[in-house]
Amino acid sequence: SRYYYSSITAKRQESYEGGGEAKRKAQHDKGKLTARERLDLLLDTGSFREYDAFVEHDCTNFGMDSKKIAGDGIVTGHGTIHGRRVFVYSYDFTVFGGSLSRTNANKIVKVMDQAITVGAPIIGLQDSGGARIQEGVSSLTGYADIFQKNVLASGVVPQISLIMGPCAGGAVYSPALTDFVFMVKDTSHMFVTGPDVVKAVTNEQVSQEVLGGAKTHTVKSGVAHHAFVNDMEALQRVRDLMDYLPLSNRENAPKRLFDDPVDRQDEALNTIIPSNSNTAYDMHEVIQRIVDRHSFYEMAPEYAPNILIGFSRLAGETVGIVANQPLISSGALDMDASVKAARFIRFCDAFNIPLVSFVDVPGFLPGTAQEHGGIIRHGAKLLYAYCEATVPKLTVITRKAYGGAYIVMNSKQLRSDYNVAWPTAEIAVMGAKGAVEIIFRNKSGKDALEAEYKEKFTTPLAAARQGYLDDIIEPRTTRARLIEQLDLLKTKSLQNPWKKHGTGPL
Ligand code: COA
Repeated sequence: SRYYYSSITAKRQESYEGGGEAKRKAQHDKGKLTARERLDLLLDTGSFREYDAFVEHDCTNFGMDSKKIAGDGIVTGHGTIHGRRVFVYSYDFTVFGGSLSRTNANKIVKVMDQAITVGAPIIGLQDSGGARIQEGVSSLTGYADIFQKNVLASGVVPQISLIMGPCAGGAVYSPALTDFVFMVKDTSHMFVTGPDVVKAVTNEQVSQEVLGGAKTHTVKSGVAHHAFVNDMEALQRVRDLMDYLPLSNRENAPKRLFDDPVDRQDEALNTIIPSNSNTAYDMHEVIQRIVDRHSFYEMAPEYAPNILIGFSRLAGETVGIVANQPLISSGALDMDASVKAARFIRFCDAFNIPLVSFVDVPGFLPGTAQEHGGIIRHGAKLLYAYCEATVPKLTVITRKAYGGAYIVMNSKQLRSDYNVAWPTAEIAVMGAKGAVEIIFRNKSGKDALEAEYKEKFTTPLAAARQGYLDDIIEPRTTRARLIEQLDLLKTKSLQNPWKKHGTGPL
């Protein structure tokens, strides 16, 4: 038995070694950590329990039968982050370039299945040359199985992807199906077809970095939510993120200790809105003065920055923040902003996270680029998401709330629970100037008419008088009011009519 024992130890050692010393060095030379080093940083010390370390591929093509390494290029299992269970898989680039074999896919599917069964998040660390070329279609079926699991897990457990190396071809669609995608600057790339294929098909010359680097995906495409400077920072920020999220849709997000008084009044809020209603201000500042100190975890800060989304805490409890940003395009909603916020709202709704919206929106962005791009369809996604959400929904209108955008930004009629405005709010079908141009097209004395319009409509009073606002509050009391209301809404229970699923605009 001693013999068997030592052969087991040897096999386990083989899986620890992965592709060997030289390959690990090559990995480090690229500024990347190995699959196991990454898990060590992601998970609480000593908490990792590995599955399938002894699994080997069963491919016999191209002499592969003589090239087997225990574990076969993927490290899977579970561990804890700040004491809470998560399931993980980490591609090992040192073994056949981290390529996906049929058996690797089985390992991934196994942890995904268990994560769904017990209700714990799935975190995938991607660093792979794609489908294991020697295996042909078998490897492709492996991706199909993973994609299918991603979809079944969607809305059941949070799914997070870290792109820490290449992620190309079919491989991109697993991260794309997950809730949040983080990339590492310079060392990670995502594309459906690489630069060589692009050149061959379209004659376009493009580098990997421009085609699918971290900057491209966090600024232009919106495929990824964050770009971090290195593996270490990316892993640390995933740990931070997990603190805001519930383990599954069957529970609430964790309550954290907080040292920020619930009734703290921030005087600066009373004067934060500029007296000229066309002057911009930073909505980040508004959010930070209201939420628990240092608790705003912004998502996709560089993509469609005219809307802000992210997790935060009020009295220690997670909320999802959606806020127009007057600093960028006056906070107007466009296609990208609509889709960015819609998806975030759906995540929060799926995972029992209350939504707090801060509104300062002059409308939808006008122009042919937006209309031809389908702003109607994309804007409808945001509307659909707010309408469908049954979690507690709270709205604070800080300034402009005009037209269709007023409705879409969680107005009272969208089954919203608590809608308030600051005294600086302007709720109207459109701004005074545009309105007067239309309703008094041929009249003279437009200045006086504009002033009359402003007095009538660009105030929160008209809306409050009709009950479309629950209250007009002093800005410095916003934090206390929101916390009170969230506490009240803990017993909210709202169900949409039964359906297989909606048919919302995609
Ligand atoms: N299947 C099998 N082996 C693969 C592989 C794949 N998809 N991708 C990489 N490998 C192997 C390489 O053969 C190499 O093996 P070796 O060390 O025994 O020579 C090892 O992984 C490392 O790859 P290498 O090309 O040396 O690394 P790199 O950092 O220079 O380049 C890639 C990385 C991903 C850009 C490059 O390997 C690549 O283009 N791979 C193919 C990507 C692809 O088209 N996949 C199929 C689409 S789904």
